[in-house]
Amino acid sequence: MFVVRGGRPLRGRVSVSGAKNAALPIMAAALVANGTSVLHGVPDLVDVTTLSSVLRSLGMNVDRRPDGAIALSTCDEQRCLADYELVRRMRASVCVLGPLLGRRGRACVSLPGGCNIGHRPIDLHLKGLRALGAKITIDRGYVFARVDRLVGADIYLGGSFGSTVTGTCNVMCAAVFAKGITTISAAACEPEVVDLGNYLNAMGAKIEGLGTPLLRIEGVDDLNAVEHTVIPDRIEAATMLIAAAMTGGRLQVDNLVPAHLAGVIDALRMMGVMIEIHDHTAIVTAPDTLRALDITALPYPGIPTDVQAQFTALLSIAEGISVVTDKVFPDRFMHIPELMRMGANVRREGACSIIAGIKTLSGACVMASDLRASAALLLAALAADGESVIRRVYHLDRGYERLELKFNKVGADIARVVDQPETMPASLQLSEEEQQPLAVDSSDSPPPPKFLSRRESGQPKFK
Ligand code: EPU
Repeated sequence: MFVVRGGRPLRGRVSVSGAKNAALPIMAAALVANGTSVLHGVPDLVDVTTLSSVLRSLGMNVDRRPDGAIALSTCDEQRCLADYELVRRMRASVCVLGPLLGRRGRACVSLPGGCNIGHRPIDLHLKGLRALGAKITIDRGYVFARVDRLVGADIYLGGSFGSTVTGTCNVMCAAVFAKGITTISAAACEPEVVDLGNYLNAMGAKIEGLGTPLLRIEGVDDLNAVEHTVIPDRIEAATMLIAAAMTGGRLQVDNLVPAHLAGVIDALRMMGVMIEIHDHTAIVTAPDTLRALDITALPYPGIPTDVQAQFTALLSIAEGISVVTDKVFPDRFMHIPELMRMGANVRREGACSIIAGIKTLSGACVMASDLRASAALLLAALAADGESVIRRVYHLDRGYERLELKFNKVGADIARVVDQPETMPASLQLSEEEQQPLAVDSSDSPPPPKFLSRRESGQPKFK
C-alpha cells in the first residue's frame, strides 16, 4: 500500500513512459512476424510481464535486453492456447486472438471474465473475425477459432458505446493476411491503434486510413520482423498534468505527443490551468483557483475514459458544480465512494457524476478498485490535507511505470509499505477519546426520544 503525505506542490521535470495500451497489442502482433521483432519503449509493467507469459505459452521467446528493448521471436508455431489462468489476470491478453488466427489459422483463447470497470464483451471482435471467414465457437469459457484461409470482407465494427480499440486491433491483425481487400468501418481511431497499424505496415502490411474510422487493408502473404518504438503513454501524461494542477504545482512533462492530448489539454485550460506546449513537452502551472467544468469521456479524439477518474478527483476541488459523463464505460465509477471518504462531494446519476467542488480534500484510508481509480486516488492523496493510505496499489503497478518514484522526484512524499496494521499512520487512527461511547450525563440530558404509535402521533391510519 501507499502512505502519502499530501499537500505538497509538485515542481520539476518528469518524463512519460511508453504507452501500455500500444505496447500490449504490438507485442501480441509480433506473433505474425518472421524473425526477431525488437520493441523500444515498452514500459516495465505487470501487464507487460503477464502478456510476456501468455506469448511464451504460445511458443515465443520474449526477452528484455539490457538496453530495455524487448525482443520477440517465434520458436513453436503449433501452440494456440491462451489459458484462463493467464488471461484472467489481464483482459488485454485477448489481443493474441487476431494475430494467432491470421498467422496460424487457429486460436483457443480464454474469455477474460468480469471486470471492475463494467461489462466488457468481445462480441465485436468475434463479429469481425467471423466476417473474415473464421469459424468461431465458445465452449467451456474459451473462444475456439479456426480458418483455412481468411478472406477480405467489409466489416462494420461500431457498437452501442462507439468503436472498439482492441477489437479493431484484433481484426486488423487477422485481416493483414486475408485474401483480397478488407474494409473496417467504425474502426477505433485511438493513437494506440495507429501505432499498431504503423508497426504492421513497417513489417510489410498494407493498411490505409489509420487514425480514421475507415480502414482499407490489402492482404499480404508474409510479414517480416522490424524494430519499432512505442508511442508515449497519453494517459500517464494526462495523469501528470492533472497532478500538477491538483497540487498547486508547476511541472515540465517530457516525452508526450501534444496532439494525442488535445481534449485533455483543452479541458484543463478551460479549468484555468496554464499549459505551454513545446514540441514533445508540456509545462503545466496550476492556477490559484480551479474552475468547475462539464466533461464527457468519449472515444478518441474525445477525453479518454482512462482519465475520467483522474478528472473526477481534480474537479472535486474545483470551484462550482461539474458533471462528468462516461460514454465509453458508463459504470466506471468505483473511485467515487473512495473519493468521498476523502471529503469529495459527488453524486452518481447513471453514467454521470455530479461534483460540487470543495476547497480541500482530507487524507483518509482508501482502497483502489482498478488501474485508473488507483491513479485518481493517488492524485487526490497528493492534493489532500494530511496523510492518506491507498490500499491495493497493485492495480496501479499494472499500468504505470514506477509512478510513485516519478512523483517523489518532483516533491511528493509517497512511501510504499507492506499492508499491515502497524504501518497505518498514527494521524489516521482515531484518538482514544474519539473511540469512547457517548457519555450520558443523566442530570441535564434530554429524555430519549419516545416512539409513538400512529394513534399517539395523530397520523391517519392507512386502511
Ligand atoms: N464493447 C462492446 N463489444 C466489444 C468490445 C467493446 O460492446 O466487442 C464496448 C465496451 O464494453 C466498451 C466500449 O465498447 O463500452 C469500448 O471498449 P473497447 O473495446 O474500446 O475497450 P478495450 O479495447 O477492451 C481499451 C483499453 C482500455 C480503455 C478502452 C477504451 C487496452 C488494452 N485497453 O480497452 O484501457 O479504457 O480501450 O479506450 O487497450 C486502461 O488502460 O485502464 C484501460 C481499461
